[in-house]
Amino acid sequence: MTGKEPRDQKNARATQATGGMGGEGYYDDHSGPQRAGFREQQARVKTAVRHLDLTVPELRILDYGCGPGRTSITIIRAVLDELRHRNATCSVVAMHNDLAGNDWNGLFASVAGPEGYLEGYRKEGGHIRTEASIGSFFEPVASHGSVDLGLSFGASHWLSSQVRAVSPGSVFFCDLPEPARDEIAAVADRDWTTFLRHRAAELKPGGWLVVDGLGSVPDADDPSGRRAAGRRLYRALGEVAEDLAGEGRIDRRRLEEFVFPVYFRLSEEARGPLEREADLQDAFEIVEVANELLPMPTEEALVKTGDVTAYAESYTGFVRAFAESTLRKGLFDASATSAADAAALSDEFFNRLQARFAAEPKHYAFEHQVVTLVLRRR
Ligand SMILES: C[S@@+](CC[C@H](N)C(=O)[O-])C[C@H]1O[C@@H](n2cnc3c(N)ncnc32)[C@H](O)[C@@H]1O
Repeated sequence: MTGKEPRDQKNARATQATGGMGGEGYYDDHSGPQRAGFREQQARVKTAVRHLDLTVPELRILDYGCGPGRTSITIIRAVLDELRHRNATCSVVAMHNDLAGNDWNGLFASVAGPEGYLEGYRKEGGHIRTEASIGSFFEPVASHGSVDLGLSFGASHWLSSQVRAVSPGSVFFCDLPEPARDEIAAVADRDWTTFLRHRAAELKPGGWLVVDGLGSVPDADDPSGRRAAGRRLYRALGEVAEDLAGEGRIDRRRLEEFVFPVYFRLSEEARGPLEREADLQDAFEIVEVANELLPMPTEEALVKTGDVTAYAESYTGFVRAFAESTLRKGLFDASATSAADAAALSDEFFNRLQARFAAEPKHYAFEHQVVTLVLRRR
């Protein structure tokens, strides 16, 4: 960004829920669980491709909330495999959408590199090019009626902004006291409705949208009434933050109004706007709603090897890769006296988290609950 960036744009970035995922390869190196999750979704993506009109001169695929690259490349490769399988001759535009803070240089280096999808597909005679769409998916990010296949994995559970709520003792949406819990549910519903409306505008008639996000299922045994994905992890984040606030290292007032800006939907919350809003009913046919517990490679490796130290390290890397920028913006930066101090506080936070995982691996196991929607644009 240049010094000429307008003030309202700066403010918008300051309140965004995440500053993007860890750059310089950190997210890519610690996002095995996201790719394991996508492997379970591949069949759905391929089914969607089988239903697309491939007589178009150019097929536009858009990955919303693509992240720094490795998962997005895996996703586009799955689409290209299916196109090859169908002997499709149309040109392809692979479009990657994310926030300005994403590691775009890393993404484009990967796309064009040996692990990328450009060279291989071209070598086989396919026509493909890559585009970036930089901006929030709660805004329009593609031209009206231009997208054949919209995809989004592991991104739609992020809220549009960093909410503040009276939340002493908890940083997780489903553990909030009333009325904060209802307020965050209302924000999440507005966000989700907005997301779907923009995708309805961007998709071509006959286009498909496959979107997943971390989810929840009802659970009478949990105090919140739901088994939300990663609930034990988010409770651990709250516990570590409490300890550091008790030692005066995290600003107590900040912590009391800090909520991690995510919302993990029940199936009925995912379907809600599609069944309630007339314009969305008209726009989309619901092909499938699924709510599944997906594999978690860190847990699987622990069962196989029994190596608790390696488990705690890889689990912490996974969490740090997606959570650090949000914790920095929401808690650490405001509690520290300098950037170096904030970085040290962040190190201390994740070291303590790792020690907890190592001490009680079963207690903090990550439940990889994912809610998926497959929609067809009428
Ligand atoms: C956990 S990462 C998932 C990345 C990738 N899809 C994957 O499965 O590995 C979530 C991504 O969503 C992006 N994201 C969050 N809110 C967004 C928004 N409002 N608009 C666009 N991207 C967003 C983040 O910047 C991040 O790259």
